[in-house]
Amino acid sequence: MPSIDARHLTRRFGAITAVNDLSLSVDKREIFGFLGPNGAGKTTTLRLLTGVLTPDEGTIQIAGIDLRSDPLAAKRCMGIIPENSTVYSDLSALQNLVLAGRLYGMPPVERERRAKSLLNDLGLADRAREKVRNFSKGMRQRVSIGCAVIHEPEVLLLDEPTSGLDVQSRRLVVAMIRRMHDQGSTIFLTTHNIDEANALCTRIGIINRGTLAATGRPEILKQTFDTTRSVEVSFTTMVGPEWFSHPSVLRVEPMGDKYRVFSRDPDDLVKSIVNNAVRDGLVIASLNTRGPSLEEAFLAITGES
Ligand SMILES: Nc1ncnc2c1ncn2[C@@H]1O[C@H](COP(=O)(O)OP(=O)(O)O)[C@@H](O)[C@H]1O
Ligand SMILES: [Mg+2]
Repeated sequence: MPSIDARHLTRRFGAITAVNDLSLSVDKREIFGFLGPNGAGKTTTLRLLTGVLTPDEGTIQIAGIDLRSDPLAAKRCMGIIPENSTVYSDLSALQNLVLAGRLYGMPPVERERRAKSLLNDLGLADRAREKVRNFSKGMRQRVSIGCAVIHEPEVLLLDEPTSGLDVQSRRLVVAMIRRMHDQGSTIFLTTHNIDEANALCTRIGIINRGTLAATGRPEILKQTFDTTRSVEVSFTTMVGPEWFSHPSVLRVEPMGDKYRVFSRDPDDLVKSIVNNAVRDGLVIASLNTRGPSLEEAFLAITGES
């Protein structure tokens, strides 16, 4: 049984269709990255999945529970980090987590113990009794994730969880996502950070203008949308672009004192560059190969540039 099963979701705001006939299913233990440009419909989808918004059409099951017919039971299975974190400024970090535990129906001793252990993991042990009012954005976000995971949810849904955070907070938030995953949670996270999705996610869905444009493993998406590789090379003396003419070369782009040479067969290309450099008495100053990037796949799918 999938942790998230959404079928044919549509949500309109007046004339705008923010989410358009979107179906997706996330299996237990996946880290699913939901990528898309600004305004694509990521936040609206996450709000639908967490029951904050009601879809105009479509159905949602969380851990097999229908969100519309049993919203409380479905919400108990979820931990949610919304776009703008909602922590109570007048409460301490510890009080925020303990309160969240209470709202999820955890017994007092259990919620206190878990809150302290989480604050320790989130690097906030020495600030636990301080009011959140004085915290930086990154520290608030750490409190927010602590509140969201206090009840060890089966599904953790996060909206751009690391956007705008300092380096230390980002690392701690990513570590907490990984830890929840290791402990058995399913993760659904929206992001427009392609590198982060590439590093963290087992599967990626790309949303564009309310429609799911593609899903797949990050590596598969890369291969599908850009099968070319490139080689960056420079010599101690300059050569012209025609020097690279070779059957496997697709195109040559000058880049400062280097050339980027695109090929479908980088092995053959590198060997020919080295052989021809020896033949012509050229000295190679640098030589690097580059694979296709997820960013290129993303641009190919969304048609933006
Ligand atoms: N509450 C709302 N009222 C009106 N329009 C909205 C509302 N929420 C989102 N939208 C519109 O829906 C589209 C998708 O927005 P959103 O889901 O926030 O995108 P993303 O999170 O991918 O940036 C945008 O065109 C946005 O302006
Ligand atoms: Mg958003």
